[in-house]
Amino acid sequence: MPGRIPEKFIDELMARVDIVDVIDRRVPLKKAGKDYKACCPFHEEKTPSFTVSQDKQFYHCFGCGAHGTAIGFLMQYEHLSFPEAVEDLAAAVGLSIPREAQAQAPQAGNTQELFTVLQEADRFYRRQLREHPQAHAAAEYLKSRGLSGEIAAGFGLGYAPEGWDHLLQALGADAGACQALERAGLVVKKDTSGYYDRFRNRVMFPIHDYRGRVVGFGGRVLGAGEPKYLNSPETPVFHKGREIYGLFRAREAIRREQRVVVVEGYMDVVALAQFGIDYSVATLGTATTRDHLERIFRFAPQVIFCFDGDRAGREAAWRALEQALPVLHEGRQVSFLFLPEGEDPDSLVRREGREAFERRLQQAVPLPDYLFRTLAGQVDLGRLDGRARLVELARPLLNRLPSGVLRQMILGRLSEISQVSTEKLSKLLINATKPPLIASQSRPQTGLRPPSLVRQAIALLLQHPGLAKDVSQAERLRELDMPGVPLLMSLLDVVGEQGGAANTASILERFRGSEHQYSLEKLAAWDYPGRQPDVESEFRGAMASLYRAWIKQRTEGLLRKQRLQGLDTEEKKELQGLLAEKHGAGKE
Ligand code: CTP
Ligand code: MN
Repeated sequence: MPGRIPEKFIDELMARVDIVDVIDRRVPLKKAGKDYKACCPFHEEKTPSFTVSQDKQFYHCFGCGAHGTAIGFLMQYEHLSFPEAVEDLAAAVGLSIPREAQAQAPQAGNTQELFTVLQEADRFYRRQLREHPQAHAAAEYLKSRGLSGEIAAGFGLGYAPEGWDHLLQALGADAGACQALERAGLVVKKDTSGYYDRFRNRVMFPIHDYRGRVVGFGGRVLGAGEPKYLNSPETPVFHKGREIYGLFRAREAIRREQRVVVVEGYMDVVALAQFGIDYSVATLGTATTRDHLERIFRFAPQVIFCFDGDRAGREAAWRALEQALPVLHEGRQVSFLFLPEGEDPDSLVRREGREAFERRLQQAVPLPDYLFRTLAGQVDLGRLDGRARLVELARPLLNRLPSGVLRQMILGRLSEISQVSTEKLSKLLINATKPPLIASQSRPQTGLRPPSLVRQAIALLLQHPGLAKDVSQAERLRELDMPGVPLLMSLLDVVGEQGGAANTASILERFRGSEHQYSLEKLAAWDYPGRQPDVESEFRGAMASLYRAWIKQRTEGLLRKQRLQGLDTEEKKELQGLLAEKHGAGKE
């Protein structure tokens, strides 16, 4: 794992990036007053309500409510994770990300070098498939598997020739180059000295990351042989628990289809694509992880898993189900397609064709059905203790589901089957495990009530960070016991740290992932009633009221202490000062 991205770097990035450029490159914007507008890329509309503010470095759609910073936009539009979005923006403005100290290896070093050598190896393998004297064997093999030349080229398939040092000869010019090849997992160090090629006499499937960079390979033997598939080992840029084969290539099709088919093998993905089912991906010979699923769900709300109909397939399906439960937020669907005995998607689509395969996809078993079908198969529902056992079996699974409609509906189904009321079930299901994180992260109600004074101050400061320079009594206000004040104070601190470079987005980024993220985003999009207010006097007024509230609170505190235990000299002086100030403030 790379280290954390330092906060200071995000500050700098936000100061350098212009959200108008970032969005305009993907969704052409038109100037409208001091903002920019476009038809919203996140919902269907004919008149533009998607607004980008250059001042705030923030976008907001009045139609669907989508909003965020440049980083947020990339996450939402390009389906990137936070670090990926940061990496993209950084690359666009020519910054490289310094990582905070890492526990592991100092040699983790230069990943760019790995990307370069992997790219060169990719070119090398592809060229061998066309040019190597023995390449006909590979070409024959691909042909025997029914692959068209076009699809093989589309997936960048290559050939690692028979022999111990073809790649080494081509790319291992010196010791440094050999080390890079080794770190990329392409060659293996010998016990004695020197290296040898990891992949020999194999058809090579390049594996691309979210940006289309080659991060590893899968190599299949030509015909029979062991191991059938050989994959790149884990490297600083290749993690099997995270990467997904075919996702980069399929991303547009997935967006179009709004669904993803997850299969088990490289060949399955390639064969399906050849038959027009170009929205399938595969995990890399590993079980599906939650990380995989989060990644896939960023592209489409519906995931269909294909598994063999045999016992191993059913076990894999069940593991996938367990991984999927925690990420089943509102609107996401998972279903399972079990293939006939002895078939995989590759063989099936070749035998039946696209339409039949897509019909099977339509009929895939929804996750809740699969869940209850499987559990019900393990108990005798005709018996009271059998139904009790069902509830026990379901309990740990349902507890993994985020709260929401789906959870309620599954609970309802369990109630029907077990003949236990939903109220009783709810009680039974609550156990010592903490409620899923997602629940606490869900967005608060979008009430239209006017924000409190503190929230107005927060909104103004967030939208116009320059106002911070007018705040005089910050240290005293810090003591004010009032909801929202601590947040206002952290906002002031952030603006203080970011100095003149602070803008709405740079502040928001400091609160990403905190409990305040969503309410701050809402305040960033909030329009001050009455348009074009004199923000400076509004803000000064709000801060003055807060200061008066502090005087009142402090005065009352001191008076109470005076009654109960008396005041020391310092405190007496302070109280006198406060009373005078209160008077003065009242007279103004
Ligand atoms: N796999 C692997 N190592 C192996 C066998 C399989 O990593 N020794 C992974 C590969 O990602 C492979 C997937 O598991 O694509 C599915 O394997 P399998 O069902 O055995 O192969 P198929 O995909 O059917 O491969 P083929 O059709 O080429 O025989
Ligand atoms: Mn197969």
